[in-house]
Amino acid sequence: MHNTRKISRDYYWVGASDRRLELFENVMPITKGVSYNSYLLMDEKTVLLDTADSSVSRQFLENVQYVLNGRALDYLIVNHMEPDHCSIIEDIVLRHPNLKIIGNAKTLQMINQFFDFDVDSRFVAIKEGDTFSTGTHTLQFVMAPMVHWPEAMFTYDIEEKILFSADAFGTFGALNGNIFNDEINFEKDWLDEARRYYTNIVGKYGNPVQAALKKAGTIDIQMICPLHGPIWRNNLGYILDKYVKWSTYEPEDKAVMLVYGSMYGNTEAAVNVLATKLAEAGVKNIVTYSVSNTHVSHLIAEAFRCSHIVLAAPTYNSGLFTPMENFLMDLKAHGLQKRTFAFIENGTWAPTAACQMMSIVGEMKDSRIIDETLTLRSSMKESQIEQLELLANDLAVELNASNPR
Ligand code: FEO
Repeated sequence: MHNTRKISRDYYWVGASDRRLELFENVMPITKGVSYNSYLLMDEKTVLLDTADSSVSRQFLENVQYVLNGRALDYLIVNHMEPDHCSIIEDIVLRHPNLKIIGNAKTLQMINQFFDFDVDSRFVAIKEGDTFSTGTHTLQFVMAPMVHWPEAMFTYDIEEKILFSADAFGTFGALNGNIFNDEINFEKDWLDEARRYYTNIVGKYGNPVQAALKKAGTIDIQMICPLHGPIWRNNLGYILDKYVKWSTYEPEDKAVMLVYGSMYGNTEAAVNVLATKLAEAGVKNIVTYSVSNTHVSHLIAEAFRCSHIVLAAPTYNSGLFTPMENFLMDLKAHGLQKRTFAFIENGTWAPTAACQMMSIVGEMKDSRIIDETLTLRSSMKESQIEQLELLANDLAVELNASNPR
């Protein structure tokens, strides 16, 4: 059954949501599902902006057919060639043999890499700033390389002032009928997943995102239509501000995140004491995660949110507890910068974990280390409480807590 929504004078949302997929990109859990947005312009020419993932192909094809209402599809604009948006291109071509495909030079190369049908004879190559008339609408193309792949681009409708922003401004989460940001409580119900989406998918590409934001800043935008999650049609400054913060790696909150690995609970016990001492020093909104049972995508998102990160881990095979090492290597790969770290290490006979953790975070740009590393020898002792209090106090001062000693 078709399921579409008219989103403006001439545009329709023809996407679909998937609540079955467990892991996005076969990596990130998506307990709230995900939407694959696609938009159809019904002008003198009919134009589809991106397709969808093959998992929702039936729904998507029904939606397109319903809105076309017997008309042929004239053009497909490919803003992004990742398969979650392009895997249905060939099905669309089979249904609309005269279809022309619009994209840039890199798009063409990627379509030919992914598919075997004749692309070249139907391809319309565009470049930065080119415009394309569909009748009463003029579309302009804005290159957005590395947001999130090299061929990524935005399409801007000059008449309706709509920016089709590819992966930018997307979030995890299936849509629930309410497809506009003003129909939902974004901050309460969507922000965490938007942050997890951004940081894990695009987080590494802060500079390209800033370049794209700079270009977008020169355009009068009334509506942002991303490829995942809700459409923005008011309060655009809210999500733009988030993107500025995330892409410049500025902490979103002045807050502390405690992340621990603990084999038998002894390292965890020290972290719990630190959390209490922090609270007594007036630090609010402390978050604590076990690195062993929290998916790394959540840890990365929280690390982008928080200004201060305490890492606690045992020594393992003369190195670092593997789940902590995996997390930190992933965090480094996502380009996190500008964070302050503190450390708790454990080692029954030769503790080296703090040194290993410092070495990894030391490679993150503008990272800073608080010089209060606590070394546990198997378990925390009464005599070490004072050292944890000192660490808690240092953190409290930096976080402007209400009650540092
Ligand atoms: Fe939603 Fe980079 O694909």
